[in-house]
Amino acid sequence: MKMRIVVVAFISLAALGAFRSSVRAEPTAPSPQRPATSSTEPSQSVWDGVYTDEQAKRGEPLYSQACGRCHGPDLTGGETAPGLTSGEFKTNWSGLSVDDLFERIKVSMPQDSPGSLSRQQTADVLAFVLSKGGFPAGERELAREAEVLKGIRFEATKTSP
Ligand code: HEC
Repeated sequence: MKMRIVVVAFISLAALGAFRSSVRAEPTAPSPQRPATSSTEPSQSVWDGVYTDEQAKRGEPLYSQACGRCHGPDLTGGETAPGLTSGEFKTNWSGLSVDDLFERIKVSMPQDSPGSLSRQQTADVLAFVLSKGGFPAGERELAREAEVLKGIRFEATKTSP
């Protein structure tokens, strides 16, 4: 009886060891989407070309469908909804991360159906909003992952490097 317990314990320990080493053997290639630093300190700003033209184009019909009737077809605001390109909008968000703005939209907009957009749709709509706000397009799409968005700072005006 005792012997059996020892054998079972030995086998499970061996199995655990094998499992551990197979986990350890797995390659740990860094995700290409991740910023070089692992800290959440923003390393980029909205002036660095953080979305693509194509993505903004993808976001345009989404905006018209889900946002335009309140925020205005030209993003200048409506009866109760604020503009999304105004100087006031930009100063309100200045210094915060693009992740904060992303989450604001993802969680609370469209106001009459919050949470109905997927993370990808939210990223695409945000790319369109940024394009209309005069922020430059670049080579890489705006990501939908929070850890990437946290690395991009929203800034009302371009600060010289
Ligand atoms: C039914 C009307 C309505 C729709 C549709 C709507 N919004 Fe809004 N939105 C509002 C109102 C009203 C406010 C301000 C009050 C509040 O914060 O809820 C607001 C606030 C915001 C803010 C914060 C503005 C600021 O100055 O900080 C953002 C960003 C925003 N909306 C983006 C969007 C986006 C993007 C969509 C489409 C996916 C959208 N909204 C759809 C009514 C709407």
